[in-house]
Formats: sequence, C-alpha cells, structure tokens
Amino acid sequence: MVEFNLPANSKVREGSLHRASAGAKRVRKFKIYRWSPDDGQNPRTDTYEVDLDACGPMVLDALIKIKNEVDTTLTFRRSCREGICGSCAMNIDGTNTLACLMPIEDVKGEVRIYPLPHMPVVKDLVPDLTHIYAQYTSIKPWLQADSQPPSDRERLQSEEERAKLEGLWECILCFSCSTSCPSYWWNSDRYLGPAILLQAYRWIADSRDEKTGERLDELEDPFRLYRCHTIMNCTRTCPKGLNPAKAIAEIKKLIVARKFA
Ligand code: SF4
Ligand code: FES
Repeated sequence: MVEFNLPANSKVREGSLHRASAGAKRVRKFKIYRWSPDDGQNPRTDTYEVDLDACGPMVLDALIKIKNEVDTTLTFRRSCREGICGSCAMNIDGTNTLACLMPIEDVKGEVRIYPLPHMPVVKDLVPDLTHIYAQYTSIKPWLQADSQPPSDRERLQSEEERAKLEGLWECILCFSCSTSCPSYWWNSDRYLGPAILLQAYRWIADSRDEKTGERLDELEDPFRLYRCHTIMNCTRTCPKGLNPAKAIAEIKKLIVARKFA
C-alpha cells in the first residue's frame, strides 16, 4: 500500500507564547501562523494573549496591537481598515474573511489566524498574489469599445443597464472566494476561479462594452470556466455579501444562449 507523507519542512510546529501583561482582565488568545523565507525553519503557530479591554473590537485591531506592542516581526497586509481595499483577507477561525470586518467577539475561544489557503506564502499572513493578478489581467478588466464616445459627454447607461452591475462592481478583489474553492485549489494553474470570473462577468454585463463575444470566446474553455462545479464556497465566504457563483452561472447561460441564437 502506498503511503504519502507531507515533506518534513511543511509541518507546522507549535511556536512561542506571548503572555498578556499582568493585571489584564479580559484576555483572549490569538494563535497566528508564522513563516519566514529567510530562516530555513518550518512554519509555526505563535500564541499571543491580548487584553481586549485595551484593544479595538476587530481582529485587525488585535493584529496591529500585537505588531505595535509585542512582536514587530509579525507580517500582514492591511490598508483601509474598513472593508474597501481587500488587502487584509486571511483565514480566521476557519473562514476566509477580512480581518478589519471580523469582530473578535464573533469568534468563540482562541482566535486562529492563517493566510488565505492554497496560496504560496510570502511571509506570515501575506499570500503571493502574483498568479491571481496575472489571471485578472488576462480577462482585460477595462471597458473595450471600438466606437467613439459622444464628443460632449461620457458613454451613458440607462438605470436598467446600470442595475445589471449591482453585486459586481462592489468586489474588492480580496480573493477570499477563490481561495475557498476546491476547484481553484487543485486547478488554479488553468481555472480562473470565482473572483476573476465575477470580474469577467462585470465587463460582460456592462452595456457600454463592445467585446462581449470575444470575452465569452476567451472563457469558453473546459478549465478557465467549466472547472466551476457549483460548490458554492465562494458565495458562502464572500465578506462583501456578493455572489460569484451566480456571476459564473450567468456566463455559462450566455454561452449556451448564443449557441441557439
Ligand atoms: S467576490 Fe467577494 S470574496 Fe470574491 S474577491 Fe470579490 S469581494 Fe472578495
Ligand atoms: S484593511 Fe482594507 S479591507 Fe481590511
């Protein structure tokens, strides 16, 4: 019988414990994935005790407090602090979400924090987004039109046309959805994944864009589009309440419809 073992250097070991200061009354443990490319060590999980009476309410507040006051080497991305930039996406308590929108109080017990799953790690909680941004570039995420716009104003849309972009333009490219998708885990070299497909549909649905046919041609592929098996993890996890699975279904419907047009 064949046995498979993880490479020895991929095993996550228990790291150090950083205790809260004496006198702290409302202490919560944060167990955080740590890995550095520079020291040749295995990944580890360090535990930090945080006094919630001296910390803001969100998981990102705790991470910033730990970095400022306990361990400056802890590395994570963040920018806006209010669910707009998408940079603080990580796996918290087993769910991909935004650290700045995740209340500490919503996690029961120890707060376990890992980088987004199935992405190469740059350091600690920072995933390498090079490949997924190359996929984003591949769908040409900009308005394409051969016709000239009116000389005296922008290209306008009716209210109905604009309404078709609702639930699409709000995507902040946090990639919580793509990294929750088993199809994307196993086929990310060729499958575009829910975030990029939602973005592709955002331009297909835009009445001002004139390249719908070409965009559908690019997506009509057993891997780029059809590796979606409607598992729905994407929609379940999106911290902005969007529905990438529906956007993917709309692309599939348009491809079928044009065959019978
Ligand atoms: S659809 Fe939601 S989870 Fe996916 S990238 Fe956009 S905002 Fe993030
Ligand atoms: S810091 Fe910008 S979305 Fe969290």
